[in-house]
Amino acid sequence: MKTIKDYNLENKKVIIRVDFNVPMIDGKIIDDSRIKKSLDTINYAINHNAKVILLSHLGRIKTEDDKKKNSLNIVAKRLSELLNMKVLFSSSTRGEELEKKVSELQNGDVLLIENTRYEDLNNKLESSNNYDLGKYWASLGDIFINDAFGTAHRSHASNVGIASHIPSGIGFLMEKEISVLNQVKKSPKRPYTVILGGAKVKDKIGVINSLIKEADYILIGGGMSYSFLKASGYNIGNSLIDEESLEYCKQLLKNYKDKIILPIDVVACLKIDNQSESKICDVNNILATDIGVDIGPKTVDEFTKYIKLSETVVWNGTLGCHEIDRFSNGTKSILNLLSLSNCDTIICGGDTASAAINFGYGDSFKHISTGGGASLEFLEGKSLPGIECIDE
Ligand code: 3PG
Repeated sequence: MKTIKDYNLENKKVIIRVDFNVPMIDGKIIDDSRIKKSLDTINYAINHNAKVILLSHLGRIKTEDDKKKNSLNIVAKRLSELLNMKVLFSSSTRGEELEKKVSELQNGDVLLIENTRYEDLNNKLESSNNYDLGKYWASLGDIFINDAFGTAHRSHASNVGIASHIPSGIGFLMEKEISVLNQVKKSPKRPYTVILGGAKVKDKIGVINSLIKEADYILIGGGMSYSFLKASGYNIGNSLIDEESLEYCKQLLKNYKDKIILPIDVVACLKIDNQSESKICDVNNILATDIGVDIGPKTVDEFTKYIKLSETVVWNGTLGCHEIDRFSNGTKSILNLLSLSNCDTIICGGDTASAAINFGYGDSFKHISTGGGASLEFLEGKSLPGIECIDE
């Protein structure tokens, strides 16, 4: 597969697809690691006298209101601080303003184009990989570099469509992610344990079927666990549930009862906030009004047993509502345990990576991947469209 190093970038307009889908609260970036991790590729292009054009999505755009909340303008400012130079910004994703800014670029300049998913308000043009949109964006540049590993499992116009119109390659972040995850996929040191949690239950529940064949244990916590607890016959109150997946969960539990480890106790509350009363209860004691928001101490002990046995741990999805301090104990305890362990730990995904970094474990693991869904699908053995589309 071609990489950015295979091209002469001098004087060329180089379109780099990055994943600047950073977590934000109240209009502020709460973890900029995805921006930082794209700097090697961007700096390489700048230092090789390219005119750099950056494309990224941010959030999911379904309404005009979503557009206001998900402008990349704020990311342009942060990028400018990190690069220590002016970053130009086009508030249009196509048309005169954008084309003028592209035509005025000098060697070494960087232009960030507004959120590619703004195009989704028009018949999902970006997310359905509309041919004309990919062709239009490609017409702005000479070379396409895909460095958006976090988006590689999507087949969208900005990360796949463009590649069929101009020469393409991958950037340094994409290269590193592929190399580390390939090693885990091909020959993980055993026992190999996968920890799954998080709230994107529907998105991720399907990968368990494949991962469970490779892994020795799957520890399930966080939002993901309640569908499994319900499928095991427990009352889960008002906790997060994916009703459609219940039958599937039951089947998995039946087929792999020795490999799937579920919570024994949880922290439950009436409302997910800082004030409402909370308690620790065993999973057979969750009341109809309770919402499960963290794993409990007995579960931490149980997970610890399996982690201590493991030589490889892949973790995707936090084990509770970690943004609220009093519901972050499960996630913090397991991060701490892993940071002290000698096993190969790979942290996957926006939220899990942010938790690791924000709780002070940014340098404690073999690899913190910028991909959530992308890394899981990669480890499952699926081919990722954002990688497949790149020139050989
Ligand atoms: C991610 O955060 O997982 C990637 O940026 C992809 O985002 P998406 O799930 O909205 O496509």
